[in-house]
Amino acid sequence: MGRIVYVNGEYLPEEQGKISIFDRGFLFADGVYEVTAVVAGQLVDHDPHMERLERSLDEVRLPWPCTKAQLKAMHLEMIRRNALKEGLIYMQITRGAADRDFRFPKEIPPTLVAFTQTGVLIDNPNAVKGVKVITVPDIRWTRRDIKSVMLLAPVLGKQAAHEAGAFEAWMVEDGFVTEGTSSNAYIVKDGAIITRGLSHSILAGCTRRSLFRLAREQGVAIEERLFTTEEAHAADEAFLTSAANFVLPITEIDGNAIGGGQPGPVTRKLRKIFLEEAISGSSAKPD
Ligand code: PDD
Repeated sequence: MGRIVYVNGEYLPEEQGKISIFDRGFLFADGVYEVTAVVAGQLVDHDPHMERLERSLDEVRLPWPCTKAQLKAMHLEMIRRNALKEGLIYMQITRGAADRDFRFPKEIPPTLVAFTQTGVLIDNPNAVKGVKVITVPDIRWTRRDIKSVMLLAPVLGKQAAHEAGAFEAWMVEDGFVTEGTSSNAYIVKDGAIITRGLSHSILAGCTRRSLFRLAREQGVAIEERLFTTEEAHAADEAFLTSAANFVLPITEIDGNAIGGGQPGPVTRKLRKIFLEEAISGSSAKPD
């Protein structure tokens, strides 16, 4: 694929990017990550991603591998070296490589790796027709606010969705939707956006955060509360948000058509204003 990847301070052709089999990310999923969108060669929502990374690192007691400024410089250098116009930058920090022992190893450097993925984020055909979602039980641990690399439950959920001909799986706990396997989950009823409030139960999406600011500016009502699978099936509209998809309309949940099977007006408006900001490069604005 010819990409340049980043491994612990070095920019390397991707086939030369290697880490140890003793890396604790590999052995214990002892690490955290971020995925940041790139549009028109510029980072989208970089500051919120760095704030969330700081929180994830603190919560699992991982040290920063470098300064925030160095991490931003690395992101920009990855865009430059890969001539990335539109797509994603994935970065991961783990507790480093040491002989297998559950306890933290002493004085080893964390592992920092990053790579880019090109993709169509703006003219995403899924945004025109909408996507299908299924619901699955939420079998994850109880600290989903930490962006941990422990992703087996989301992998199983996404595969189940794929096998059911759907794009995403919404995870359900005690009858209430938590979030998607790699996205936040929303329904729209009577013009208002309904989504679960932030807690340990879901990831605080950076796209969610920017979207809330934009929605408030537009006078769109936001209700942060639990909603059931049945409520979702009967919603006027539904959508998901993530760095990889921005705002993506959902037109079917568990085989039930949502909004007559067409992306709804609130969702279309939200996607439009989100894209406008991402394209103009002003998504670094404070809340
Ligand atoms: N996933 N919830 C979960 C469980 C996620 O994994 C993600 C992001 C989100 C949305 O967060 P944000 O808007 O900051 O991307 C919500 C990324 C894209 C991934 O794992 O690929």
